[in-house]
Amino acid sequence: MSKPPAILVEGVHKTYRLGRQDLHVLRGVDCTIGDGEFVAIVGASGSGKSTLLHLIGLLDRADEGGITLDDRNVMGLSAGACNRMRRHEIGFVFQFYHLFSELNVLDNAMLPAMVDTPLLNWFSRRKKLRAKAAGILDDVGLGDRLKHRPRELSGGERQRVAIARALMNDPSILLADEPTGNLDSKTGAKIMKLLKRCNANGQTILMVTHDSDIAAQADRILHLVDGLMMEPL
Ligand SMILES: Nc1ncnc2c1ncn2[C@@H]1O[C@H](COP(=O)(O)OP(=O)(O)OP(=O)(O)O)[C@@H](O)[C@H]1O
Ligand SMILES: [Mg+2]
Repeated sequence: MSKPPAILVEGVHKTYRLGRQDLHVLRGVDCTIGDGEFVAIVGASGSGKSTLLHLIGLLDRADEGGITLDDRNVMGLSAGACNRMRRHEIGFVFQFYHLFSELNVLDNAMLPAMVDTPLLNWFSRRKKLRAKAAGILDDVGLGDRLKHRPRELSGGERQRVAIARALMNDPSILLADEPTGNLDSKTGAKIMKLLKRCNANGQTILMVTHDSDIAAQADRILHLVDGLMMEPL
């Protein structure tokens, strides 16, 4: 029997309300991302790509429609269940990194595990989790930057810390919003190599990008146009 899709989005609507003005950004978005696929979403600025990624990443709620992740309908989940699912099954790479400036590279990457470990267990697990984070950071080429603060890193290095953090809890789904958006093409190519490696290791990847060369490296490209998802024939 084939595996259920990693991500199933059905008729999703999202409207932002600002005062008396309604902005109907997503107008019935449908898309299916297979388990283990690497899919790129492209679309004009303001077309709702980040909005959609935030809904799928359980960072915000859709007004209408269905979202199913790994065969689990997430629309009716409580806030606590959403938090747990986000911590265990989803890794999110933000366009502007969102690292904690006060924490060093190692602690930034460890954060998802810290949040996920009860205080009583933290002291017994800390060493193992630290070794795991250091291993992932080594994999992304930052093994010699563990004690650096984010401000002491280049943009590409910061993005790699953000990717390491997203991988810390072994998520089955990796959501990446413009992961190469602020980087030069050579650094962007390194990030893509890293994402492809995650995908080869079984992670499903949904990536938003403006860059057609970057999008072309995905298995499939989806276009968000006028609040609807289009797939070129
Ligand atoms: N929290 C919010 N409140 C009100 N309007 C919002 C909010 N977030 C986004 N919008 C509006 O919704 C639209 C879609 O925003 P979104 O960030 O999803 O676009 P995007 O496709 O990711 O654009 P870009 O390519 O520039 O990142 C935009 O017009 C934006 O102004
Ligand atoms: Mg965006």
